[in-house]
Amino acid sequence: MSSKLYPFWVVGHRGAKAVAPENTLVSVRRAAADGAKMVEVDIKLTADGRAMVLHDELLDRTTDGSGPMEQTLFEAVSALDAGSWFSPDFKGEPVPTLEELIDVLAELSLAVNLEIKPCPGREAETAKVCIDVARAAWPSHLPPPVLSSFSRTSMEVARDLARDWPRAWLDEKLSEDWDDLAVALDVQAAHLGTKDLTEADVRRVLASGRELAVWTVNDVARAKQLRSWGAAAIITDNPALLIAGGDGL
Ligand code: G3P
Ligand code: CA
Repeated sequence: MSSKLYPFWVVGHRGAKAVAPENTLVSVRRAAADGAKMVEVDIKLTADGRAMVLHDELLDRTTDGSGPMEQTLFEAVSALDAGSWFSPDFKGEPVPTLEELIDVLAELSLAVNLEIKPCPGREAETAKVCIDVARAAWPSHLPPPVLSSFSRTSMEVARDLARDWPRAWLDEKLSEDWDDLAVALDVQAAHLGTKDLTEADVRRVLASGRELAVWTVNDVARAKQLRSWGAAAIITDNPALLIAGGDGL
């Protein structure tokens, strides 16, 4: 099937989260080396408003720092080790800035889904900074980023500031008010969790004229089922596994 938003079926989750430290440049490079043509990463802000690639609100799990990212200055976050927690092989791998990520995407000709992942209270600011930074640095040879968020406020800002870029509503499950939400946010896709996702859910998204990407799919049989139902892309921790195990993945 053809897809406007997702030229590729396999999207690397946080890079290649299963085999490299998530949301680092080495993880993005690994996803590309393993055959992914698109990656998903999480964007949040430092205390002084720099957009960086990190999933958790706290620095503790994926870096050698501690405490809330939103209370930590850029200079301190950029000095952290975001690789050793995963394996000593990745010691010294930094938390990337959004600009550094874009440089690597450009080098690798890799498409991206930027998940706007704000700390509470910074939903609008995070979306604005993410869009401003990406717009200023976006390479002309790359497709525009797909912007997604669980935050309605962030997606309202994305709708208003990035109307010309593809945007997706991100949720664990398809909500009852999906059709109204899709119109209000003017999104072109839903990104839904694979758990409990049914064929009827997929049909409903497609019937609304939107595309569907499903996260986090690490099982080849499930990926094939989702494709047969009409999903446009899967977001996986292990691109190599899904590409090797799939029929034309
Ligand atoms: O963007 C899809 C997926 O990454 C959303 O959940 O918690 O992994 O960011 P999470
Ligand atoms: Ca994410």
